[in-house]
Amino acid sequence: MLIVVLGLAGLVSIWLFAPPNISSANQIPDSVEAIERGEYLLIAGGCISCHRGQTEDTSEALSGGLALETDFGTFYAPNITPDIETGIGSWQARDFIAALKHGRTPTGNFYYPAFPYRAYSGMTDEDVLDMAAYLMSLQPLSNVVPEPETPAWLFRRIVAGWNALADISQPELEQFDNELLARGAYLARNLGHCGECHTPRNGLGIPDYNREYAGAEIGEEVIEAIDAEALEEWTTNNFDIFLLLGLKPGGEFVGGDMNEVIEHNTSKLTDEDRDALAAFFTRQRSEED
Ligand code: HEC
Ligand code: HEC
Repeated sequence: MLIVVLGLAGLVSIWLFAPPNISSANQIPDSVEAIERGEYLLIAGGCISCHRGQTEDTSEALSGGLALETDFGTFYAPNITPDIETGIGSWQARDFIAALKHGRTPTGNFYYPAFPYRAYSGMTDEDVLDMAAYLMSLQPLSNVVPEPETPAWLFRRIVAGWNALADISQPELEQFDNELLARGAYLARNLGHCGECHTPRNGLGIPDYNREYAGAEIGEEVIEAIDAEALEEWTTNNFDIFLLLGLKPGGEFVGGDMNEVIEHNTSKLTDEDRDALAAFFTRQRSEED
């Protein structure tokens, strides 16, 4: 009996802690095109909102240090400039894919989900590697970021179980054949990680994608729903203007953390990508028209 139990525990831990399967053929490209694509993808990914430096000189750089207060502790966005000592200067292609698509550290440990890797996991490898190309082209900045402050039980290996639970509770999301909607879905669900704030979470902090974009509470803050029902009065054009300027159909400007999303992310997208996001969020309305 004991052997069976140990055997099962062994199997479970192999399943939980096994390193992600990533092809070692991946390389970080160094062409100008890849670097430029990567720069744009970092904008669409909203990375600067969390990873920007915390001094006046580094506020436009990715040297990290921002404290993210959550119900599960305080997490600090790392330095993702290519500094060898304090940043990601020694990272290989597989380290970027493991981090962004699997939430795993270069040594096989687990990132905390304050880093929205579950949204980024839907990214293509090509997009991740172009982001890596851009990051590697930046000026290295030395900045040591504090370790996360978490309750004693919340050590990194626990996140393996959290990831498995999140996988199990994840419903099949609607997929799109239409190219514009498919691009919009990629920008919203993956790069723009809109659901990290706008989708409700259960008691373990796992987003409930059965209620995608139904609004959420983060600490004291209530975040509006942006699902079909909530956007009933919004035309595709209203949504487009919102993404560019933060201006709502009623004439009010949005506030709070959404300002950052507009400033650093959606207002800097190409017109095509903004149209794709707007088409995705208002798709039910367009079907009715
Ligand atoms: C909501 C805030 C947030 C956003 C947005 C975000 N990150 Fe992070 N990121 C974090 C946090 C927090 C960690 C560290 C998590 C931990 O300590 O386990 C992290 C870790 C990382 C790491 C690992 C660095 C290391 O030294 O181990 C990389 C690489 C990274 N992020 C890249 C990105 C990229 C690229 C984007 C945009 C596509 C991005 N992040 C967007 C918060 C964020
Ligand atoms: C870091 C968290 C965060 C992320 C990521 C985020 N939002 Fe928001 N969003 C907010 C908050 C907070 C508000 C409410 C701001 C306020 O108080 O005015 C908001 C408001 C909105 C509103 C206005 C809703 C209304 O009825 O007034 C829309 C539309 C919206 N967000 C769309 C998006 C889209 C699209 C994305 C992804 C590209 C996104 N948000 C990503 C936090 C976020």
